[in-house]
Amino acid sequence: MKFLVSAVVLVGLAQAQVKGKAQGFGRLTTGGGTATPQIPTSLAQLETWLTDATPRVIMINKTWDFSSSQGTTSTTCCPNSCQPNGQLWIMDTCDSTRVACKYNNAPKNPIAIASNKSLVGVGSAGVIKGRGLRMINGVNNIIIQNIHFTGLNPEYVWGGDAITLDGTDNIWIDHCKFSLIGRQMIVSGWGAAGRVTISNNEFDGKTSWSASCNGKHYWMMLLIGVKDFYTFSGNYVHDASGRAPHMGTDKTASRILFHGVGNYFKDVGGHAFDIDVGTNVLLEGNYFDSVSEPITAPSLTKSTLMSIVTVADAQLCQAKLGYVCEWNRLVNSGSFPSKTSTALLDAFAPWKNSLVAHVPVADVPKTVLANAGIGKI
Ligand SMILES: *[C@@H]1O[C@H](CO)[C@@H](O)[C@H](O)[C@H]1NC(C)=O
Ligand SMILES: *[C@@H]1O[C@H](CO)[C@@H](O)[C@H](O)[C@H]1NC(C)=O
Repeated sequence: MKFLVSAVVLVGLAQAQVKGKAQGFGRLTTGGGTATPQIPTSLAQLETWLTDATPRVIMINKTWDFSSSQGTTSTTCCPNSCQPNGQLWIMDTCDSTRVACKYNNAPKNPIAIASNKSLVGVGSAGVIKGRGLRMINGVNNIIIQNIHFTGLNPEYVWGGDAITLDGTDNIWIDHCKFSLIGRQMIVSGWGAAGRVTISNNEFDGKTSWSASCNGKHYWMMLLIGVKDFYTFSGNYVHDASGRAPHMGTDKTASRILFHGVGNYFKDVGGHAFDIDVGTNVLLEGNYFDSVSEPITAPSLTKSTLMSIVTVADAQLCQAKLGYVCEWNRLVNSGSFPSKTSTALLDAFAPWKNSLVAHVPVADVPKTVLANAGIGKI
């Protein structure tokens, strides 16, 4: 009987291991590998396991709430123009009348996760609240799967970032959900983010503290690392109002390759893609539904871009990438011009084995809604 009980527990743990394998640029990521899955029993133990030098598979089977673990700061903040329901800025300078504010300290102090870790949610129970993760100082090989990151001072700009990539490589962020974050859901820079796959995640921008006065989050993703390779596939990005994502900057000699494929952008009251210099961006098979600005106008001239719209665009991929790209589809959305680039195809050609296959764009809403976010694997 005793044996049976432990066997059941082991099966439970085994099922909560990482599921599937990363595809795309992050495909070499193995995280904690075959280490025996472990379930932490305290916030302190979770933090130790995330930051120590041992390869680990860490399972999250409940909400771990760091919100008040490091106290609060009472100060004054700068209101944006959407009061009473807008975000307040945590910052020194302010052009309007400052107001009293109080925020949690923990979300502004993310955990610096170490190399060779898998952080995996169990069923739909894996929630990390009030604190994000940083991958910095050369850490390598990290999987974050099936975790909901939420509650990082959403009332405050600069309240906290969920995931920071700054001097890292081989990262797979899969089947996670991001909601109610103060600043960015994912941010990279100024160091290299390296090879990163961001797949099947839900980026939920619904908020009562909008920076855009429309109940939608503006600071979704800011990708401005110096040498970054992103596969961004199968994600559900909704109720955003900007930077969904922004990438590239003229502040560093950044060189970003970004393959955005099969993502579902829905109810974006603002812009989705905003792309600056130093970027090579291939957008294919994405579905935009009710997105007021799928791509900003400067993106079309500042980036090296292919935005596949016509059959002719799609066929151009064949010669250098070895397949026919999928077109992007727009419903009830703003303009998304066709743009092709030989330089873009040349930049991606050496990486063609890291390009993930697309599903037919007509299937994207159904497929993404069935797969993206937590509790779906
Ligand atoms: C998480 O797993 C541990 C170990 O199996 C168990 O004791 C605990 O009750 C679980 N917590 C929840 C909320 O299911
Ligand atoms: C991570 O694992 C790899 C492969 O086993 C190993 O070479 C490397 O030293 C590990 N990194 C750390 C920081 O433990």
